[in-house]
Amino acid sequence: MLPIKPVPAERLPELLRRMPKAELHMHIEGSLEPEQMFALAQRNGLSVPYADVAALRRAYVFNNLQEFLDIYHAGTLVLRTEQDFYDMAWAYLVRAAADNVLHTEIFFDTQTHTGHGLSAEVVINGLHRACVDAQAQLGISAVLILCFLRHLSEAEAFEALEQALPLRDKLVGVGLASSELGHPPEKFARVFAKARALGFRLVAHAGEEGPPAYIWSALDVLKVERIDHGVQALRDPALVARLVHERIPLTVCPLSNLKLRVFSSLTEHNLGRMLEAGLVATVNSDDPAYFGGYINENFTQTFAALGLTARHAYQLARNSFAASFIDASARRAYHDRLDEVFETFE
Ligand code: ADE
Ligand code: ZN
Repeated sequence: MLPIKPVPAERLPELLRRMPKAELHMHIEGSLEPEQMFALAQRNGLSVPYADVAALRRAYVFNNLQEFLDIYHAGTLVLRTEQDFYDMAWAYLVRAAADNVLHTEIFFDTQTHTGHGLSAEVVINGLHRACVDAQAQLGISAVLILCFLRHLSEAEAFEALEQALPLRDKLVGVGLASSELGHPPEKFARVFAKARALGFRLVAHAGEEGPPAYIWSALDVLKVERIDHGVQALRDPALVARLVHERIPLTVCPLSNLKLRVFSSLTEHNLGRMLEAGLVATVNSDDPAYFGGYINENFTQTFAALGLTARHAYQLARNSFAASFIDASARRAYHDRLDEVFETFE
């Protein structure tokens, strides 16, 4: 690891902004800003059940994950065409590039949209076209991870996987999202086994609101390579020891945890303790349009609240590339770009 020069607190936001990084946990439907939601509704001849953008934003107050998921689901109703999915993803990718995200692994689901009468192709083709254009026009790599919705049945997850298979080449992995409590990973053991046999990379939300036991079973039963959130892991020292030993990455989303009241304030967040424990933690935005900020906002607010330093910044950025589903030569190139920024930052 590079020797990291100390950086005064007032210069940290600039370092965090300039720092190359990967984003590994964001749901593309959660990047739909109220302005774009109203514009898509108008284009599709639909209405949004709020008077205006300000009224919609005022509704973004949540006591837990489920309250958020209900509003988030309502917001997806404006998405009707392949171009809608393209435009939503493109807006995120432009925003991510501005935050010096060099690589992003985007979560999406098809079950929400097939439930609204759309086909899986419309969703995947629109998102994928934006990813291809991002490489060419923004110089960032973007890949797609299909999330199963855990509040729905195993049979419905199998159906979603089946519908996605003709578009297999446009996806890198599968994940597991939506209401965690009461829907343990075991429910999806067989569909994850099938995805694994088909060569998909595997991730799952676990330990966001749910207990450490859900993280154990995501690892042992689903055989995931990364844990999304995982902040409850610190309640279980044996689990922490395993995650450290096996270098299982955790995709942490501090502003999401704050808005969904997983922590009562950012000063209570355990990101600093995770890093001190040697966990491969990363910082991500989850649903930036709903939680008050994109990835750099997550970095700057969390660093300010927890008093984190340039050394933590370097570690988190390095972890983000180490945890991504990229090949070894791309990883080396990203690590070199990261080192260069830290070596030349004054
Ligand atoms: N879907 C979108 N955001 C999510 C989150 N934070 N947890 C679970 N499912 C989600
Ligand atoms: Zn998430």
